[in-house]
Amino acid sequence: MLSWDDFDDKEKIKEPVLAEKNLAEKKRDQVLEPPEMGKASQEKSMLSDLDSLDLEAGRAELEGASARVDVSEKKMINSRADVNQLVPFKYDWAWQKYLDGSANHWMPQEINMTADVALWKNQNGLTEDERRIVMRNLGFFSTADSLVANNIVLSVYKHITNPECRQYLLRQALEEAIHTHAYQYVIESLGMDEGEIFNMYKEIPSVAKKAAWALPFTKSLADQSFQTGTEENDKILLRNLIAFYCVLEGIFFYCGFTQILSMGNRNKMTGTAEQFQYILRDESMHVNFGIDMINQIKLENPHLWDEEMQKEAQTMILQGTQLEIEYAEDTMPKGILGMNSEMMAEYLRFIANRRLTQIGLEEAFPNASNPFPWMSEIMDLRKEKNFFETRVIEYQTGGALNWD
Ligand SMILES: [Fe+2]
Ligand SMILES: [Fe+2]
Repeated sequence: MLSWDDFDDKEKIKEPVLAEKNLAEKKRDQVLEPPEMGKASQEKSMLSDLDSLDLEAGRAELEGASARVDVSEKKMINSRADVNQLVPFKYDWAWQKYLDGSANHWMPQEINMTADVALWKNQNGLTEDERRIVMRNLGFFSTADSLVANNIVLSVYKHITNPECRQYLLRQALEEAIHTHAYQYVIESLGMDEGEIFNMYKEIPSVAKKAAWALPFTKSLADQSFQTGTEENDKILLRNLIAFYCVLEGIFFYCGFTQILSMGNRNKMTGTAEQFQYILRDESMHVNFGIDMINQIKLENPHLWDEEMQKEAQTMILQGTQLEIEYAEDTMPKGILGMNSEMMAEYLRFIANRRLTQIGLEEAFPNASNPFPWMSEIMDLRKEKNFFETRVIEYQTGGALNWD
């Protein structure tokens, strides 16, 4: 057997290590004391670089804005008040949501996925219908959250001319990135076929239709030459906000959230359900923020909210509801997890009524009721403060949910 002493080349092995150390020390010395330039002359050179900068254009622009921002100058869209200055606040609701969102920060890796991995890999762990629900929802959400993030960054942000709203939009964009990360983390943990899941928005009709419905609303705004300031273009922006906040985040997410959380309530895929519970909490704040933005824009620009626009908004919400009902039928061909597609359709009509009234329109389904009151409980923002402490108990009291 070979021992260390038999190893003739051991000194040779040490040599490169020593050589690397010497090289590293040499490099460090070079950085600390540049051979050709002392510290003083270096600083001088940097200063002369600044002297040669032409700051006139930027200075003139700053002087062109009024000396100090007055609250009355701040507006949601088409404002001339300096967007680089956060205070004084005009829209306290936007700043408060930024603070609340930041206080709820979470990361997908904090959630233990061990039980989910074992259940998913056990061939008898879940039924075929349950597996379809998990896969379809990961397929839809993994794309939808990216779509929402891109809509904020590439289409909406530039045209919302209020710094406290922009502050929340930045927070929301980060949260959407975390949501996409969460889906990727679940897909990877469960060892799913990533190509199959991430391509569902192109290949599975009930998923594809929802993404295809939303895309045109973001495309025209993403055009570099698009500018607000005309009635026509301001309406395009308003339509985008209704499409994304009231329909995509406000309706298209709700069948999937209900299905996955119901699974968690039954002690199945509890890690995935916990990820979705955090996401739902963020999403209900996104929807509330979007609705506040829409209503504030309507208030400041009443001419945009004419009869035609109201009719369009109603049509968009009803179309979204119909697409989500189709998604429920596709993902639940028969009753599962204490629910079926007809109960889901009723829930979606209830949600649609809420979205309509939240932006000042009449209910479309006056008798719709909520078959899943526990969903409202999870979303109830008054519970936010003790959300972290209560979430486990909520799952354990799943027996109180009697929909069977
Ligand atoms: Fe999201
Ligand atoms: Fe969102």
